[in-house]
Amino acid sequence: MKTLEVDLGERSYPIYIGQNLLAQAELFLPYFDSTQVMVITNETIAPLYLEQFLSALSKQQTQAVILPDGEKYKTLEVTNRIFSALLEQRFDRKATLVALGGGVVGDMTGFAAACYQRGIAFIQVPTTLLAQVDSSVGGKTGVNHLLGKNMIGAFYQPRCVLADTETLNTLEDRQLSAGIAEVIKYGLIVDYEFLVWLEQNMEALMARDHQALMFAIERSCMNKATVVAQDEKESGKRALLNLGHTFGHAIETGMGYGELLHGEAIAIGMVMAADLSQRQGWICPADKDRIVQLLQRANLPVEPPKSLSAEKFLELMAVDKKVMAGQLRLVLLQALGQAVVTANFDSVMLKQTLQWHA
Ligand code: NAD
Ligand code: GLY
Repeated sequence: MKTLEVDLGERSYPIYIGQNLLAQAELFLPYFDSTQVMVITNETIAPLYLEQFLSALSKQQTQAVILPDGEKYKTLEVTNRIFSALLEQRFDRKATLVALGGGVVGDMTGFAAACYQRGIAFIQVPTTLLAQVDSSVGGKTGVNHLLGKNMIGAFYQPRCVLADTETLNTLEDRQLSAGIAEVIKYGLIVDYEFLVWLEQNMEALMARDHQALMFAIERSCMNKATVVAQDEKESGKRALLNLGHTFGHAIETGMGYGELLHGEAIAIGMVMAADLSQRQGWICPADKDRIVQLLQRANLPVEPPKSLSAEKFLELMAVDKKVMAGQLRLVLLQALGQAVVTANFDSVMLKQTLQWHA
């Protein structure tokens, strides 16, 4: 097992990465303040892992809430079911929530923990690659609104993150690829050496080679933890973690939540960010090709949907959280492994990127 630390002063917490961690109660029991523990999961993950997890918690007064599966259920209405269960069970301020699932369950559970009685403890037990390398780390929690992705939420850190790599064995190939999109993101924004490693090891990752997965998860979490420790609430550097997200979130909202997987939308968004960076003259065509080829080797889409016009993109992108005083800011690439958040891009070139299929 590997242990990393998210260094946030009194809110610091460990990330445990390894095999069969779900059964190791001694890892997570120290993070519960009382015997009141509520596990939040969904109808796909429950039959696979809930029983195993609950049996490790046999001494707790454990309850489970099983939510419907899908990005379209990442809403305030569905989160309310968690509040109802907590109130019905008379769970108090010492209760702990456990997010057992992918990023959807993790984001909703964290948000519920931030709100219930103005904040109770929670731990993250991510079961998708995407959640193990990204969403479970760093304390961004929230739900979608019809008008914008992840627009309702809170920064709220978990007590610990427990990434059991065994759970990835049951993940569908398409979901594995979606997670690899966020892994590639770290290489592109801050870690050129990792990007080269990914170019050399993509087949091993796609084949779920254990050593390759462990290395990729650890390196991704290390990169994320470093950025989050420097800028927890995204007043600066953390926005780099949103490479491809302004385009990607517009695609997710515009297509309807769940049409494309989040990681797939981010893959397309990263190619669009690379395209604009190349038009700006910051990266060369060969750099953009390297990005496209790497994403394609991970079976990820690399072109925006034909149904989204440039005008629709601009309308949706105007709701982005990086918009400041009405001005759109984007994460672009100055080089491979070196991203920048900037409003300093040519709007005509942006339009050319958005008119992809013209
Ligand atoms: P997800 O939570 O929808 O999970 C993907 C699918 O895999 C679901 O059908 C789920 O039921 C299933 N699943 C989960 N674990 C499984 C397992 N071990 N075996 C078999 N099936 C399993 O999607 P995701 O890709 O994990 O997360 C995407 C969400 O994360 C989006 O809502 C996105 O906005 C959010 N996100 C948040 C952050 C953050 O910093 N908070 C960062 C990135 C993404
Ligand atoms: N996924 C972006 C962030 O955590 O900041």
